[in-house]
Amino acid sequence: MLQTALTIEIVCVWRYTMMSVSDRGLRDERVGFEFQEQANDERRHTRMVAERIEQLGGTPNFRPHGLMSPLAVEHVSSLDFDDMIAENLAAERSVVEYYNDLINHFRMSDPLTTAMLETILQDEEDHATDMQDLLTS
Ligand SMILES: [Fe+2]
Ligand SMILES: [Fe+2]
Repeated sequence: MLQTALTIEIVCVWRYTMMSVSDRGLRDERVGFEFQEQANDERRHTRMVAERIEQLGGTPNFRPHGLMSPLAVEHVSSLDFDDMIAENLAAERSVVEYYNDLINHFRMSDPLTTAMLETILQDEEDHATDMQDLLTS
């Protein structure tokens, strides 16, 4: 389950880094900064999840099989700005849902993992709000 979270986070780092250097990201300083900040958050999440997998005796896989499927970034660059933001918003909402499921799963058995997931969840909720704000601005 944490490996799936790791895969999602890796894709999110790509996604937001790519957007921060997109045409709009480079032209509009506020937008570029926003995406770069989010990429930094996602990189921090990547590290937190990978560390926890390691602590639990697993091996974090940084080249997972599903890397290109669930929240893949391939076609995002071809979308217009509002579509791109709408896609991000949808992606962040499904990430929020996924972390809520994980928290429910780990709550009784693993308080450390639960605390880490709750920290990440808070950021993901902020990301969804930021995307909503960009959509309506
Ligand atoms: Fe994240
Ligand atoms: Fe996020």
